[in-house]
Amino acid sequence: MNDGCKKYIPFRQIPLPDRTWPQQTITKAPIWCSVDLRDGNQALIDPMNLEEKLEFFKLLVDVGFKEIEIGFPSASDTEFEICRALIERHLIPDDVTIQVLVQAREHLIRKTFDAIHGAKNVIVHFYNSTSTLQRKIVFRKDMDGIVDIAVEAAKLIRQLTEKEVAETGMNIRYEYSPESFSGTEVENSVLICDKVLEALGATPENKVILNLPDTVEMCTPNTFADQVEYCIRNIQHRDCAVISVHPHNDRGTGVAATELALLAGAERVEGTLFGNGERTGNVDIVTLAMNMYSQGINPQLDFSDIHHVRDVYERCTEMKVPPRQPYAGDLVFTAFSGSHQDAIKKGVDYMHAQESPYWEVPYLPIDPADIGREYEPIIRINSQSGKGGAAFVMQQDFGFNLPKVMHPEFGAVVKHACDKAGRELMPKEIYSLFSKEYLEVSSPYNLKSYKLYEENGDAKQEAGSAQVRFDGTLCIHQEDHAISAAGNGPIDAFFRALAQVGITDYKFVTYQEHAISRGADSKAVSYIHLKDAEGKDAFGIGIDNNISIASIKGVICAINRSKRA
Ligand code: KIV
Ligand code: ZN
Repeated sequence: MNDGCKKYIPFRQIPLPDRTWPQQTITKAPIWCSVDLRDGNQALIDPMNLEEKLEFFKLLVDVGFKEIEIGFPSASDTEFEICRALIERHLIPDDVTIQVLVQAREHLIRKTFDAIHGAKNVIVHFYNSTSTLQRKIVFRKDMDGIVDIAVEAAKLIRQLTEKEVAETGMNIRYEYSPESFSGTEVENSVLICDKVLEALGATPENKVILNLPDTVEMCTPNTFADQVEYCIRNIQHRDCAVISVHPHNDRGTGVAATELALLAGAERVEGTLFGNGERTGNVDIVTLAMNMYSQGINPQLDFSDIHHVRDVYERCTEMKVPPRQPYAGDLVFTAFSGSHQDAIKKGVDYMHAQESPYWEVPYLPIDPADIGREYEPIIRINSQSGKGGAAFVMQQDFGFNLPKVMHPEFGAVVKHACDKAGRELMPKEIYSLFSKEYLEVSSPYNLKSYKLYEENGDAKQEAGSAQVRFDGTLCIHQEDHAISAAGNGPIDAFFRALAQVGITDYKFVTYQEHAISRGADSKAVSYIHLKDAEGKDAFGIGIDNNISIASIKGVICAINRSKRA
């Protein structure tokens, strides 16, 4: 197979040694034009029907597109009807311009003008292919012949526009695409673009959109950027044109090619949501816009409810957004790996602690909440996940701030369950493991009743240092034992009471507590760390309305768990 590559001709580089685009940065959003309803739609196994197209159009308007290519009205009756429906049902907002595509052929151009009659703002987008390959094998024409096709079409469009504008006052603008620009010698692209601008009578006040399609990605994005910069610098009537790009994604670098083309001076971008479109698709506008957003640039498109955008897209096109699709895929804000989980948790904690106005969380290029994804588990648990991951889920989803010292123990419980199940565990399954491990532990010692109260200090004690008394019933092997003792605090009193039934092997190490909202009421949760007679750690958790009782429950839980182990 390897020598098979010899049949491919390497792409010719562009003569532009003084290229300037590498020194530029993107500082503002381009003019966006959605071609979902044309390039996207024509690439579907089942193209959208009228109602689907209308729903999709509304979505594009809601997202904020001001220029929307609605189809190829001369191509079929359905396309024609869709254009008429949008116009006649008054579905096009005044600040939105519809764009219609047509080949540079007389009868198609005439039909297109019939289709757009009565619309307020229209871009008539015409094209012919200019590439070296198509000239040679499809049209069998030299470049002059190709220029003639474009110029004749331009003249007809100008003439039909003048008539239409005189009759209806429509606002008609023009767009010309040298199709397969990416496969055309740059000198020829410049030549045809200038001729078209002249034929259309473009002026700095009435600019024409020159759309430079990367129809088939044939080279690395830097070379596409060179092609764009070359044209911008060499087109004579540059001031009469808006430079647009229309990248496809054959090499998987559509987004990069577009970003570099913007550095090279492109002012407008045509693409689709999630990169739908011919073959590997058009450039994905969601990714482009969110990439800008992540650099502090307002993309002027609203993807704050990406679920909705995705829903409409998937329903209307019957395409699926892959799980790893930037920003929109199911898995892109999810960390399975332990070290990633740990860093994300630290980033989130850091941001809360610092009250930082900036997003500074490792592994998450943007705040998922900005696109409406705040309720998804950022951290998901499988057997690759580390000890911090399960603790993060307990905190994020259930409000338990497990002390760090307990993370390895609970992490191991969860990992074991993942290995056993052979799959990812959902948060509620993690909670259920937690509950079984710490909250449903009542043997061998079952604390059946408990009471804590302050005793008056005896005469020898200083005022204000009253002792706490614990009274309770501890069931051991089906037998109830009344226990009662006083101590310096609830935990001390409880330990003394336990000593009455021979439980003396445990040393208190530390405890942590916090309030937790469970349903309507707020409770206290207490995390207890003991050491047994052999110095082994024993952890327990107690929950109660009363913080002191929560600690006592935590102590008995720790002892029970250590006995069980
Ligand atoms: O990819 C392309 O070249 C096109 C043109 C018709 C603009 O879709
Ligand atoms: Zn295209």
